[in-house]
Amino acid sequence: MAIILLRDDSNYTAWSKALNHTAPEIPVYTPETVKDKSEITFALSWKAPRGAYAEYPNLKAISSMGAGADHLLEDDSIAEEITLARIVDSKLAEDMGVFVLTACLSAIRYFNDFFNQQADKNWQRYKYPQPQDVTVGILGFGTLGQHVGKLLQQNGFNVIGYSHSRKDVLGIQSFTSDEMDGFLAQSQILICLLPLNKHTQDILNADLFSKLPEDAYLINVGRGGHLKEEDLIPAIENGNLKGATLDVFKTEPLPQEHPFWSHPGVFVTPHTASISRPRALASQVAENYARMEKGEDLKNIVSRKRGY
Ligand SMILES: NC(=O)c1ccc[n+]([C@@H]2O[C@H](COP(=O)([O-])OP(=O)(O)OC[C@H]3O[C@@H](n4cnc5c(N)ncnc54)[C@H](OP(=O)(O)O)[C@@H]3O)[C@@H](O)[C@H]2O)c1
Repeated sequence: MAIILLRDDSNYTAWSKALNHTAPEIPVYTPETVKDKSEITFALSWKAPRGAYAEYPNLKAISSMGAGADHLLEDDSIAEEITLARIVDSKLAEDMGVFVLTACLSAIRYFNDFFNQQADKNWQRYKYPQPQDVTVGILGFGTLGQHVGKLLQQNGFNVIGYSHSRKDVLGIQSFTSDEMDGFLAQSQILICLLPLNKHTQDILNADLFSKLPEDAYLINVGRGGHLKEEDLIPAIENGNLKGATLDVFKTEPLPQEHPFWSHPGVFVTPHTASISRPRALASQVAENYARMEKGEDLKNIVSRKRGY
């Protein structure tokens, strides 16, 4: 029994070192070092090329290296009986919280506008709201969304959340199922922290933007597939949206010719809101590997039926 590391960028060093340090008894291979593929029972993966898993005939479980498992769910070459799991981690949530709080504060204090004005040596002030004057709607009020919500609330923002099931978190108003329009109508800043699947693909589109308050601000830290990209700039230009901070894109890295790079209302970051830290996460992966070895249920299982 052994773990195989699989990644789109073949950058295995950090995970390899972290697992060797945390659980030296577990044999860990990469596609370059594995000799006997039948020894592999567990894959730890990030966007492995489609079909890569089929090379390991005794594979029982695959864990994503991150919180998102969309890269596993969209690979229909993975056999149904293989268990899928993902990372759930407080550090990941803390990092996401800091990123989203920064983006919300930058939005209400016009930092992106000032950055653009500096290039033109343009001295112009704006009337700005205080956090308590602003309602932030978190679309995808799960592990990361709830942590983000608590941090925003501590910093004075009014927070509301939308998820499949109703939540009871620090008195934050929780919306579900057919309450989406009411949720959107209050969301002056909308944060997307949904998982990506066929139900949430392109959910951030012109129709949704038209249901937000005028001059709302969008922060997409979910996945690029959530945003119907061609609808964003028209929504900013017609006043539906004041602007957007985007951390994730349909194609990453964002192509050189993409209009998001140069539109003054769009602030682009390179998928960096919350990055998995292998050293902090290796024990979680080792525990799931041990559970698989003992025939126990894995932690943080991803449901193919639910799509996350
Ligand atoms: N940009 C980055 O650096 C970065 C880093 C990490 C993660 N992410 C993204 O963040 C996502 C969320 O991670 P997480 O750990 O918070 O996931 P999670 O715990 O599974 O939370 C997902 C939330 O979305 C809700 N949801 C799912 N499908 C829905 C739908 N169709 N309509 C309404 N609500 C729906 C869920 O509702 P229930 O609670 O009722 O099930 C849950 O509250 C990941 O999937 C990943 O794409 C991005």
